[in-house]
Amino acid sequence: MTRGMEQIEWQPASWTARTAVQQPSYPDAAEVERALATLSRLPPLVVSGEVEELKKQLAEAQQGQRFLLQGGDCAESFDECTSDRIAAKLKILLQMSVILLHGLKKPVIRVGRMAGQYAKPRSADTETRDGTTLPSYRGDLVNRSGFDSNDRLPDPNLMLRGYERAALTLNFVRALVDGGFADLHHPEYWDLAFVSHSPLEKEYRRIVESISDSLDFFESIAGGPVHHTRRIDFYSSHEGLHLLYEQAQARFIERRRRWYNLSTHFPWIGMRTADVDGAHVEFFRGVSNPLGIKVGSAMTAEWLQELIARLNPRNEPGRLTLIHRFGVNDIEERLPPLIEAVRATGTTVLWSCDPMHGNTETTSSGLKTRRFDRILRELELAFEIHHEMGSHLGGVHFELTGDNVTECTGGARGLTDGDLARAYQSQVDPRLNYEQALELGMRIAAIRNRRA
Ligand code: PEP
Ligand code: CO
Repeated sequence: MTRGMEQIEWQPASWTARTAVQQPSYPDAAEVERALATLSRLPPLVVSGEVEELKKQLAEAQQGQRFLLQGGDCAESFDECTSDRIAAKLKILLQMSVILLHGLKKPVIRVGRMAGQYAKPRSADTETRDGTTLPSYRGDLVNRSGFDSNDRLPDPNLMLRGYERAALTLNFVRALVDGGFADLHHPEYWDLAFVSHSPLEKEYRRIVESISDSLDFFESIAGGPVHHTRRIDFYSSHEGLHLLYEQAQARFIERRRRWYNLSTHFPWIGMRTADVDGAHVEFFRGVSNPLGIKVGSAMTAEWLQELIARLNPRNEPGRLTLIHRFGVNDIEERLPPLIEAVRATGTTVLWSCDPMHGNTETTSSGLKTRRFDRILRELELAFEIHHEMGSHLGGVHFELTGDNVTECTGGARGLTDGDLARAYQSQVDPRLNYEQALELGMRIAAIRNRRA
């Protein structure tokens, strides 16, 4: 480890002296500068007060008093920045959160992979089709998914388009939330047409009615509305991947004497960019947001301890969430030593489970999919292992959509490989559809209640 470098004072651009993997190569440096100059003058997408409030809630989740629900698309696309899609995603997250609230009996922190999840890490820099090789598609923030040389050329103005889409998304979500859409007294506002054809409808209705009844009961005793039932908090998150985009939205907040990355509330460092001495860790160590770190099978105990030392040297409550994503085959072997390793640091983290990214398979027809049973099994194991080791799983992280897609197999409707072609929309990873997401929420609540 380069101890010397660690001493260098942090600056928003200090990452540029490190190796930055997964970054686009723009053909025109002057155009990049112009886009960044514009981006850095625009108002922030979120404010530091919200970021601090989320950190406080995550600190409570670390103590077992709250539960984190984080979910959304693998990659958002600019074309899908529409009222229907955004509302559907918000609805499914709200519905899941109500199921979890009911089942776990603790407040749920709702975080969307939304309003900025536009950049993707890729396993190869280029893609070859029929003898033609072009740069890989790195998400709408960087280039376009079509396979032609114009589409794949990284375009710095897409950072501005991404910022604008993120602002439009946040604006709509905030207006819905503030306007009473998320009022727990009226869960019918979030009904998706699909629910009435679902085998899960009865169970969902039962949960919702029971929550409405308890609210009515408490309010009749309290003689008025119970605090926080009309307006909920909803936070944004995305992978902090494209460092020029993130750096342009770093702001020093005088009043707090701290830097924040105000492109989102809750950035996470992806598995491919978590090198301790790499550019991503350097950038994120200097901003005060709560941070997620994806933890995969390649992570060692020493590496994780170094990441914690670098990113949370003062053991600040709420600062770090470790999102493990081992896959059902690896979790039993990989998770326990890492729980021990974190314990040995004497610091507190929030453990969350992403049961999606370690369970991706390719079908015989070449589509990427994930099986509901494996996703569920990894979650069950995660709860069990943490519990057995005197730790606790305080959150879940899903790729899901409010739409009726067919990308993951299994679930109550028993989707098979043969069903996938029917409504497969993802350009990247397969997402749980509305019904599968709802079912998982119910299953998580059941896992916890079985043990309680
Ligand atoms: C993702 O969350 O979409 C992702 C790429 O995850 P990971 O870094 O865990 O592979
Ligand atoms: Co993904």
